[in-house]
Amino acid sequence: MSVGRKRTKLVGIMMMVNFFIYIVVEISRSGHQDKNSSRKVIISDRAFWMSVVHIKPYWNREQHKLDELYNPVIAALRNRSVMENLNITTMYTCERNSKLKDEISNFDTLPDRFKDFLTYLRCRSYPLIIDQPTKCQNKPVLLLAIKSLESHFDRRQAIRQSWGSEDTIGNKTVVRVFLLGKSSAADAFPNLSDMLQFESNKHKDILLWDYRDTFFNLTLKEVLFLEWVSKSCSDVQYIFKGDDDVFVNTVQMLEYLDTLDKDKAKDLFVGDVITNAGPHREKKLKYYVPESIFEGVYPPYAGGGGFLYSGYLAKRLHNVSYQVALYPIDDVYTGMCLRKLGLAPEKHKGFRTFDILQKDRQNTCAYKHLILVHSRNPQEMIRIWSKLQDPELKC
Ligand SMILES: *[C@@H]1O[C@H](CO)[C@@H](O)[C@H](O)[C@H]1NC(C)=O
Ligand SMILES: *[C@@H]1O[C@H](CO)[C@@H](O)[C@H](O)[C@H]1NC(C)=O
Ligand SMILES: *[C@@H]1O[C@H](CO)[C@@H](O)[C@H](O)[C@H]1NC(C)=O
Ligand SMILES: *[C@@H]1O[C@H](CO)[C@@H](O)[C@H](O)[C@H]1NC(C)=O
Ligand SMILES: *[C@@H]1O[C@H](CO)[C@@H](O)[C@H](O)[C@H]1NC(C)=O
Ligand SMILES: *[C@@H]1O[C@H](CO)[C@@H](O)[C@H](O)[C@H]1NC(C)=O
Ligand SMILES: *[C@@H]1O[C@H](CO)[C@@H](O)[C@H](O)[C@H]1NC(C)=O
Repeated sequence: MSVGRKRTKLVGIMMMVNFFIYIVVEISRSGHQDKNSSRKVIISDRAFWMSVVHIKPYWNREQHKLDELYNPVIAALRNRSVMENLNITTMYTCERNSKLKDEISNFDTLPDRFKDFLTYLRCRSYPLIIDQPTKCQNKPVLLLAIKSLESHFDRRQAIRQSWGSEDTIGNKTVVRVFLLGKSSAADAFPNLSDMLQFESNKHKDILLWDYRDTFFNLTLKEVLFLEWVSKSCSDVQYIFKGDDDVFVNTVQMLEYLDTLDKDKAKDLFVGDVITNAGPHREKKLKYYVPESIFEGVYPPYAGGGGFLYSGYLAKRLHNVSYQVALYPIDDVYTGMCLRKLGLAPEKHKGFRTFDILQKDRQNTCAYKHLILVHSRNPQEMIRIWSKLQDPELKC
């Protein structure tokens, strides 16, 4: 054994010893608190030995249960009879949760979208109605995964005709899928399923799951997509996931990917990163989250308009997603999963989810070195793309 390896081993052993000392100290501390019942327990979601009943917001409580479920050290210490319903079957159940009124004091006053979200918070399995199982058989370099809605036919077509065309550029194969849920008749949406079936037969780029496609369910779209990638596209090198109202400079994206060294490429996750954010408490906002549902700050996350990451990281995210309770804002949820892996997204200034300056918007050269611009309508996408392809273009 070399000296270097011996040293690594020694450091490893010392780290384990430290960890056990830490546990012993924390257990004795919590025991001490129990004896002095008049002493107030300091509430912190990092204190893993703390009892769940002290955590007030519902999402934080659910997350605490998952933390316990996945931490064998705590599981061994925990008095199981106190922890009701804590096993793999119950934590991912698709039965409607009818106990919410008892568990959230203001449940009745919450907006309907929260009631709907919380009722099926634990359900993550919905059938795939339209699949593209052979999409990745030619080992694509880049998979474009675009969040869309059933009725957005024109946006999808504009993307096919512009930045999302399935091409081989150099030797690099780019493939495309659109991610859809159901726009349900219960919400008075017209029945577009025949038209969608036609579109899918023609373009073979639709993934449709049988769940209600709403803003809060975008997180479901994320976990279902990660599951699909792990199963049906597990060899892809890179994934771009974004909205159907963004312009993507696919050529620039591939050039950027070419510049990455191996280490960086492995756990790549870049986008327009938002740091130090937290839940909005103003009821009228789209991103409003009540105090009774979530408390805390958000981890750094890349704006959901579009981000780029490695296929390998997608598989890691899929694995870890089971340990993170679904959160009603999809890009924040992905940030939470990254944090669980000990990673953070990296900011790339080519991702402009808050658009570029008004004066530059008509200037094709302004797009030349960018990767993403939000938002653009179908005609703008086609115009910008064709101007960028023009061999006469001088910037
Ligand atoms: C127990 O709590 C009481 C009241 O808060 C405090 O005066 C006392 O110091 C505590 N004892 C210990 C051992 O922490
Ligand atoms: C677990 O807690 C319950 C309720 O506090 C108690 O009745 C039971 O004896 C405890 N079980 C064990 C194994 O400590
Ligand atoms: C999980 O917990 C539920 C409710 O406590 C129980 O009915 C079920 O048998 C448990 N399932 C497993 C696999 O332990
Ligand atoms: C494409 O791949 C083929 C076979 O693997 C190789 O011969 C060729 O040089 C590659 N072309 C480019 C542009 O990389
Ligand atoms: C929508 O139309 C399709 C085909 O015409 C039909 O099979 C399906 O049941 C309809 N869906 C609803 C919810 O009515
Ligand atoms: C999410 O989809 C499920 C399954 O269709 C549905 O029951 C639930 O109401 C939806 N949630 C929201 C917030 O729309
Ligand atoms: C995901 O989890 C599975 C099963 O535990 C494991 O075999 C696989 O290596 C994991 N994948 C990654 C990328 O960590």
